[in-house]
Amino acid sequence: MQVNFLDLKSVTELHGDEIKAAINNVVDSGWYLHGEATRQFEENFARYIGTKYCVGVGNGLEALSLILRAYKELGKLKDGDEVIVPANTFIASVLAITENNLVPVFAEPRFDTLLIDDSRLESLITERTRAIMIVHLYGRCAYTDRIGELCNKYNLLLIEDNAQAHGCCFGVDGNPSDVHTADICQNDSSFFIPHSSFPRTGSLGHAAGHSFYPGKNLGAMGDGGAVTTDDKELAEVIRSLGNYGSSAKYVYKYKGENSRLDELQAAVLDVKLKHLDEDNAHRQHIAAYYYDNISNPNVALPVRLSDANNVYHIFPVLCERRDALQSYLKEHGIQTLIHYPVAPHQQECYKEYSHLSLPITERIHREELSLPMSPSLTMDEARYVVDCINDFEL
Ligand SMILES: Cc1ncc(COP(=O)(O)O)c(C=O)c1O
Repeated sequence: MQVNFLDLKSVTELHGDEIKAAINNVVDSGWYLHGEATRQFEENFARYIGTKYCVGVGNGLEALSLILRAYKELGKLKDGDEVIVPANTFIASVLAITENNLVPVFAEPRFDTLLIDDSRLESLITERTRAIMIVHLYGRCAYTDRIGELCNKYNLLLIEDNAQAHGCCFGVDGNPSDVHTADICQNDSSFFIPHSSFPRTGSLGHAAGHSFYPGKNLGAMGDGGAVTTDDKELAEVIRSLGNYGSSAKYVYKYKGENSRLDELQAAVLDVKLKHLDEDNAHRQHIAAYYYDNISNPNVALPVRLSDANNVYHIFPVLCERRDALQSYLKEHGIQTLIHYPVAPHQQECYKEYSHLSLPITERIHREELSLPMSPSLTMDEARYVVDCINDFEL
């Protein structure tokens, strides 16, 4: 059997007719930027996430970067301020910080959750700390009450990198039945009211950056991103910054950039947003099978969170002989990926941080392997993956 890590063609086919109809509507409209499709998606996405505002931007990196840039324009951040960020994250979380002349302070994760370790954060706070960026890595909710309390205590901005966790909630006693498809109510105006009793990631901090890179849980058919926030002023500055620095035509308050979500991507995303909870429920179903059946003592699984708190963008396992496991699975036709082989502080572009010793982060980057996971993965494929893993010998 051949099992792809992620088969985007079959993911698109899940809602293919609706997606094609939405694209045709945009093509026929003759309006490709700053139009009704983007406005509609922004409104629906803000409602889904549970924030007052959503600003569509070009991609996830720009979403994070524009949040920080906007805080600088608003006088809440300045060059040299420190932003605490998990050391085990995709490079974009860190790039957003450094490209704004801010200083990343790398926080170790917990090995069992793979998420930022809130018990280590207070010791990292200095006079220059102004923000914490949490990353809901792999689709797992990274927020904790303790993080919220620290932000209040030290008056820090809380920024969420929600690139990997669309649809995830924060709720300690999460019960999946509270947040799933059963709660989605569709009507003629074609949208749902999320009845989740838990707040969603993307609404937990002061602002959140989202990526709609095609492989994400809510993926476009090209690049796309968004910022969600309850802060009107921040949303307005981000909208101007992404529009060359202008809020009125040919009047430039800021030295801005061009970062926008186009009409085609917005129309596709609006269709996929309607199916997001259903697609996430499928991921959760596959993940439950992995959790219940992977029993190889040489393959460790991260702590199992409630489905409310995990939308399984990635299903990571940890293995001391990760590369051997990956080759073995490949020989059996199973494609896996590594998220990520090298930690940001060990990348050539961040030589200035290469002296840091972050043993938990480094171990995760050495041992992590991502199993096939997507809304179109079949149970037969999942069974085959589990059988092969259980037969793997060190
Ligand atoms: C955690 C994280 N942050 C930021 C990004 C950047 O998003 P984009 O690729 O849309 O720029 C990604 C994804 O690529 C990501 O996984």
